[in-house]
Amino acid sequence: MQKILVWDWPVRLGHWLMVGGFIVAWLTSESETFRLLHVISGATVLAVAAFRLPWGFIGSRYARFVDFVRGPRAVKDYAAGLLKLEPAHHVGHNPAGGWAIVLLLGLGILTGLSGWANYNDIGGGFLEEVHEGLAVTMLAVVAIHVAGVLTGSLMHGENLVRAMLNGRKQGTPEDAIRSARPLAAALLLAWVVAAGWWIAT
Ligand code: HEM
Repeated sequence: MQKILVWDWPVRLGHWLMVGGFIVAWLTSESETFRLLHVISGATVLAVAAFRLPWGFIGSRYARFVDFVRGPRAVKDYAAGLLKLEPAHHVGHNPAGGWAIVLLLGLGILTGLSGWANYNDIGGGFLEEVHEGLAVTMLAVVAIHVAGVLTGSLMHGENLVRAMLNGRKQGTPEDAIRSARPLAAALLLAWVVAAGWWIAT
């Protein structure tokens, strides 16, 4: 086992843009003064999640949904290993974490779309409640996600947060992805900036 490239640039850049967008949107959610900042950061979360969907089909190996969206048996087996304090090591996302990711992407899209509708005075008080409910649900899933990341890091003795920064995890050389796909990451950045620009003007 050695450190190999696992996460491509779009996965890493998208992740940290989503983290920043979610935190800023959460902190500005009650403020009239920072309403535009709230809307732009919410648009960032929505744009990243929307980009991530096709990337889950055409991205590099460990970015693809087929690599980490697994059935209930795989999740059960992983959880059983976790309870025995010897969870199986996965080069990409583990089967339990994979479902948290699906939830986070889905909630990112639904929260963003309901926020956009609110901003355009569509849906009235009801959609406003829905938007808030989705955001609170997303915060709860984020808390579970971060707890899972820290638990996984401790159990495998592998810093998963650093891996989300430099893209490298433990694996064999033949498991490594060949390219970090920087051009796709540049496209993602342009797409996020365009979404923020569009909503702000
Ligand atoms: C604040 C809101 C957050 C959201 C919406 C979020 C969302 C996500 C998503 C969608 C992924 C999948 C990445 C992909 O495959 O494209 C992911 C993975 C990951 N996130 Fe987060 N995340 C958040 C916060 C955090 C924080 C605060 C940390 C650090 C403590 C973190 C660490 C990670 C790590 C290490 C992975 C990879 C997990 C693995 O090794 O399988 N995330 N996150």
